[in-house]
Amino acid sequence: MSSGRLEVKIKRVCSRKRSREFLKTRLAPAQQRGRCSPIRTSSMTERRPVEFCSDSEDLFGDYDSILEGGSLLAKLDDAGKNERQRAANHLDSLTDSIMDEFREEPFEGLPASQLQFQQHFTEEAKRSRQVNENQTSTPRQSVTRMAEARIETNRGGDGRRSCGVRRSMADLLKKTMLENAAAAPVKVSRTAELKEAVVSEEISVALQAMETISPETTDLGPFFGLPSKVKELMHKLRGIQNLYEWQETCLSLDCVQQRKNLIYSLPTSGGKTLVAEILILKELLCRKKDCLLVLPYISLVQEKVRGLASFGLELDFMVEEYAGSKGKFPPVKRRNNRSLYVATIEKAHSLVNSLIETSRLENLGLVVVDELHMLGDGSRGAVIEMTLSKVQYMSKTTQIIGMSATLGNIKDLQTFLKAENYTNDFRPVQLREYVKLSDSIYEVDPKEENCFTFSRVLNFKYSSAMQKVDPDHVIALVTEVIPTHSCLVFCPTKKNCENVAGMICRYLREEFLKHRENEKAILLQELRDSGNGSVCPVLRRTVPYGVAYHHSGLTSEERKLVEEAYSSGVLCLLTCTSTLAAGVNLPARRVILRSPYVATDFLKRSQYKQMVGRAGRAGIDSVGESILILQEKDKLMAKELVCAPMENCYSNLMHDEGKGMLSLILSLIGLNISTSLQQIQEFLSGTLLFVQQKQLCVEKSLQDVTLQCVDMLKEKDLITIKVTGCNSPELQITRLGRAAYKGSVDLTYCDTLYKDLSKGLEGLLLNSYLHLVYLVTPYDLIPQCNPDWMVYFRQFTLLSAAEQKMSAAIGVPESFVARKAAGQTVKKTVNLGVVRRMYLALVLFSLLKETSVWSVAERFQLSRGFLQTLLNSASAFCSCVLHFTEELEEFWPFKALLTELTRRLTYCVKAELIPLMEVSGVMESRAKQLYNAGYKTLTHLANADPAVLCRTIENLFKKQANLMVASAKVSVIRGPSSVCSCWEQMVSAEHRKSQQASQVLLDAAE
Ligand SMILES: Nc1ncnc2c1ncn2[C@@H]1O[C@H](COP(=O)(O)OP(=O)(O)OP(=O)(O)O)[C@@H](O)[C@H]1O
Ligand SMILES: [Mg+2]
Repeated sequence: MSSGRLEVKIKRVCSRKRSREFLKTRLAPAQQRGRCSPIRTSSMTERRPVEFCSDSEDLFGDYDSILEGGSLLAKLDDAGKNERQRAANHLDSLTDSIMDEFREEPFEGLPASQLQFQQHFTEEAKRSRQVNENQTSTPRQSVTRMAEARIETNRGGDGRRSCGVRRSMADLLKKTMLENAAAAPVKVSRTAELKEAVVSEEISVALQAMETISPETTDLGPFFGLPSKVKELMHKLRGIQNLYEWQETCLSLDCVQQRKNLIYSLPTSGGKTLVAEILILKELLCRKKDCLLVLPYISLVQEKVRGLASFGLELDFMVEEYAGSKGKFPPVKRRNNRSLYVATIEKAHSLVNSLIETSRLENLGLVVVDELHMLGDGSRGAVIEMTLSKVQYMSKTTQIIGMSATLGNIKDLQTFLKAENYTNDFRPVQLREYVKLSDSIYEVDPKEENCFTFSRVLNFKYSSAMQKVDPDHVIALVTEVIPTHSCLVFCPTKKNCENVAGMICRYLREEFLKHRENEKAILLQELRDSGNGSVCPVLRRTVPYGVAYHHSGLTSEERKLVEEAYSSGVLCLLTCTSTLAAGVNLPARRVILRSPYVATDFLKRSQYKQMVGRAGRAGIDSVGESILILQEKDKLMAKELVCAPMENCYSNLMHDEGKGMLSLILSLIGLNISTSLQQIQEFLSGTLLFVQQKQLCVEKSLQDVTLQCVDMLKEKDLITIKVTGCNSPELQITRLGRAAYKGSVDLTYCDTLYKDLSKGLEGLLLNSYLHLVYLVTPYDLIPQCNPDWMVYFRQFTLLSAAEQKMSAAIGVPESFVARKAAGQTVKKTVNLGVVRRMYLALVLFSLLKETSVWSVAERFQLSRGFLQTLLNSASAFCSCVLHFTEELEEFWPFKALLTELTRRLTYCVKAELIPLMEVSGVMESRAKQLYNAGYKTLTHLANADPAVLCRTIENLFKKQANLMVASAKVSVIRGPSSVCSCWEQMVSAEHRKSQQASQVLLDAAE
């Protein structure tokens, strides 16, 4: 046995070129590597930049500080400090020489799954030694043999053989992992649980390391300069075998080869994403640079992170989510890995700011902006413009690529980005656009003088009752395609979606109930689980027919379930609002526009294009068709809508009284990009506004606008102007200004936020979350809040005396709410904004206490979707306020408080479920299922076998299980993308330990 141990430590045939010194450092005893140890002899340790997470961090030290008050903390506390110390020591020794432990001392109380691994490993090691010895005619002392093997390797010995050995070991580990995952969850002691987690993670990381050093990663070239593995993955993970012709052409363009900036525009569903993804992979794998992918919605970011997780795992790069309250600033520096940041527009801006601030922008090789035409979309457009202008100004090597719908003035965007343009009108499935007037269908034909050509008369047999209920013949239109094909019905309002879904089902034949009956029953059960036993009455009635509605009033969990069921054909019809068109990719054979309105506004051409663009599923349908239902009165406007030329896209820096311009100038001064008027003007000459100043700066020149903004910033005490001698005045940011731009706080609320926080500190109520929640309730949601005074009063009376006192101190006295509830007029002047904000805070407070969106929605008479929007905005704003307070010393107590509050608001579930909720696609009910089945940590989930997961977890499809495991793996490796830096550091430290262990395993494998 002992010789075997020696063998493991000495034998090191490794395709990674690392010095022996390095290994020594990694295997040095824990005490020497300790945080306080003065003996830091390793050059590696000395050279490590401070930004990297330290190897020597106590694995569990930071863990405690984060989940303070949470159940994990409680669990760890229960176990007591001594036990923790023992565990930590044990873990240290594990990482020092994990193989020793495997061979000689089985873990006390080690769970069956890990024991299985140990036995397997020992037996296999024995067997392989025997095989080796049998192959050698003259057995020698193993030390000599190993030394010889090493010399042989150094001489460039038989690489293939060593690779084969490594492979077989990888297979063994894989097999064992599968068996481990298959083993029934057992009740384990805490110490054993910790050991198991660490060992499992080590194995996982080791496996990955083996896979990533496989020869494939070196075969760069065959697929647009990428390894052929990428092509395989595209096939395996996306089902894409060949690129469309335009995709090949676009990727082969000279400007693409030369990494010039590029804007490419194609109709919806043209396959734009794939081109961007290939370019991103090239940047990550070939140029070894980080990339930033900007998407317009949180849901899209989450979907993309999920979709790319497997690529990240297979190709060895990090996929990091920057959305809502997620994302770390500045991003964690990765020594060996490149990162792909997938970000919303706002987060992308903050990320670029933080990279500029830390002089790391040059590491960003590529920025891809999806839906680039959103530059013309209000304040969000302004943020895209600021981000891209800063990237262009500060880094000459960062390439910018924009995907866009076809625009009328693409030249302006090209000038702004100094980009080439590629345009094509390819659609994989032909789209036929129709309109319906009375009972006739007309095809849209812009070449025709009156735009519409008669196609057919709609065939329907309606009773008079039915004609009354469905005068627009929606039922006749949908039953021409469902249930065999899919159909989307866009409706003008949320309520209309629900009504139309209900109305259609009332007239569907019984056979519809039989279609995929079992799967629909499962879906209903899942919906019920997601609502903790409650299910929406409309969905309960429509789902058995294969019909559902989809709008922002559903919880994200319900939306996800509905989307998945629709994608897999279990549901054949969705009634939805326009948001579906801009969000997830859910194509349909037929798209019906119930009317040319969104609420009371006539459709914009871009909205129309986006909706009809959903028609036709590539690879499934031979044709896609859209039908716009028209009333005679709308005919003329509709002609314009369907036949008008492409829309133009204009800069939005001047939108909303120049808000964008103000915050841009503030951040330029804060980031030291421009510290004089002249420099600001120089910067502004690189904006889209500059390109379009003739159209947009009609009343005032751009120069005057700039001067005015500088004055306003000074007035608001966000900057100062320092005059020194005869030099041009120097612009400096104030503390408040810095806090505002660091927290991305809207400058309209900046003052109020400062005052509210200062007043808050004077009597901060700490034995309840209410006060803190009030302080982070987003100001911009206040106008949307119309309190139900009876509900308000009832909730108010449920507050503790201290909470009521705090509320009165803020400006919401009980007497006021009571009078309002009684319908009396109130003479006393109160600030209604404050009263409304407190109402929203009460909603959030209830959510935090109960975590059930359903019951809180019912109590406050609000839609559960709105509650989730409120929660998401509050968690995002909480993280903004956190960054704001970090810059202002007087607000020091807020740092710890808001860090924890952000996490709570982000997940709004019981604390023990939070780690599982970090996995993309895992929402509360799924997290509960996983937790109850024994998958209690990210590591457990990362090491699970998807097939076993499907068997263990009710109603989990294989594809979901695969994605979940892949995403958990990514989270384990990169650490959760949480706002909390110490949490991140803890996991990084944990990861580093695993890396050390994985190296030992690697060595052992060879
Ligand atoms: N070469 C290809 N072969 C087969 N399918 C493809 C190919 N390229 C893309 N697709 C598929 O086509 C569908 C639409 O692609 P994608 O989402 O990239 O379209 P898009 O141009 O971005 O449209 P939108 O403007 O709606 O966002 C996706 O399901 C994608 O997987
Ligand atoms: Mg797209």
